[in-house]
Amino acid sequence: MSSRIPGFFKLSVDERRAVVEERTGLPEGALAAAGERGLDVVTSDKTVENVLGTYALPFAATLNVQVNGREVIVPMVIEEPSVVAAASNAARMVRDGGGFVAEADPPIVVAQIQLVDVEDAESASERILARRDDILAMADAAVPGLVARGGGARDLVVRVLGEPSDRMMVVDVLVDCRDAMGANLVNSIAEGVGDELALLARGRCNFRILSNLADRRCVRVTCRVPFEALATEELSGADVARGMEEGSRFAELDPYRACTHNKGIMNGIDAVVIATGNDWRAVEAGAHAYAARSGRYSPLATWRRDGDHLVGKIELPMALGIVGGTLRVHPTARLSLAMTGVTNAAELGMIAASVGLAANLAALRALASDGIQRGHMGLHARSVAIAAGATGDLVERVAARICELGDVTVDSARAVLAEEQARSDKDTIAVAE
Ligand code: MEV
Repeated sequence: MSSRIPGFFKLSVDERRAVVEERTGLPEGALAAAGERGLDVVTSDKTVENVLGTYALPFAATLNVQVNGREVIVPMVIEEPSVVAAASNAARMVRDGGGFVAEADPPIVVAQIQLVDVEDAESASERILARRDDILAMADAAVPGLVARGGGARDLVVRVLGEPSDRMMVVDVLVDCRDAMGANLVNSIAEGVGDELALLARGRCNFRILSNLADRRCVRVTCRVPFEALATEELSGADVARGMEEGSRFAELDPYRACTHNKGIMNGIDAVVIATGNDWRAVEAGAHAYAARSGRYSPLATWRRDGDHLVGKIELPMALGIVGGTLRVHPTARLSLAMTGVTNAAELGMIAASVGLAANLAALRALASDGIQRGHMGLHARSVAIAAGATGDLVERVAARICELGDVTVDSARAVLAEEQARSDKDTIAVAE
């Protein structure tokens, strides 16, 4: 299977569905069914509260992605024009350098149990650590299904926080979540062992909840892009690579730039996380906390020149699941997982991080050459034309015209649309006469 499909963007939606079904082995018609039905209102009403309906977003495919030699057509759910095209284009450049090379940590997530009103934290720690094995067994008893799947509590760490005036303890239970994102499992463990820990500490148990800073469950991806793949009409690949390295340094030196740099990365990651029915708020919270781990907010991905290649590296926590989870009742989420062909959560995390690195590559290349607006506005113009009321063929015509005018606004699109409609009315009258 190759994820490289030249001319894919020129196909109709039905043709694209057929090609992706054929390449990924999905049953014929599966994408039409899931892509149009989405989550139904009855299921939604059982999922969250006060439901009024459902809310659809574009569901698209990023092409050209190769992770550890495996081809993958990556499902993305995103409303922002140009992210899918840019990530596909960047992934094609990465292919020229051998694709993405990725690795993932074991799926460890931390359950945090806060202990307060502890008289003597030091002896409380000793008592807890002396009962380590019993506490881990008690933790396992709270999640028998996870233990049956080979996961469960692996270790615990006791820490003392705060000043003497507000001293508190926290016990972190390290849980192997296997292929689940793990929030419910880890919270069950935190609640399952909280009272026993309070007894041992001779204090009071307060919060019992997972940490979304899943820094023991990181993924790392690298890629090597040959300079010639980065060249634009005006600039050589070497010049673009230099500008991209300078842009990476800018993000490393300035949190204001790092924030935007990371936003571009999350454009790619969130879209995959949402498409596969995962909790994107958890991934976002973990990513940004990780970016600030040194005490200074930093870029999640960096770029350096190495000979005639540009080398990109990304590292971030990635707590994703392929089993369980509320949203996996969503037919499109299930189909997205099938489309990727992943067999475990780690693989999905490596794909999401690779697409994040591709999105970052595309943004930095544009910023180091033409600027972001040329490509972005061309695609954004279509949404503006639709917002102005254009339908059918008129969408492309109005979008092209407002780009030519250099005025990509709804007002300008309305004026162009009115002209186009007047012209087409005149043509209809002329034909009738
Ligand atoms: C826009 O959604 C994302 C960018 O701003 C990212 C970046 O500046 O690196 C283009």
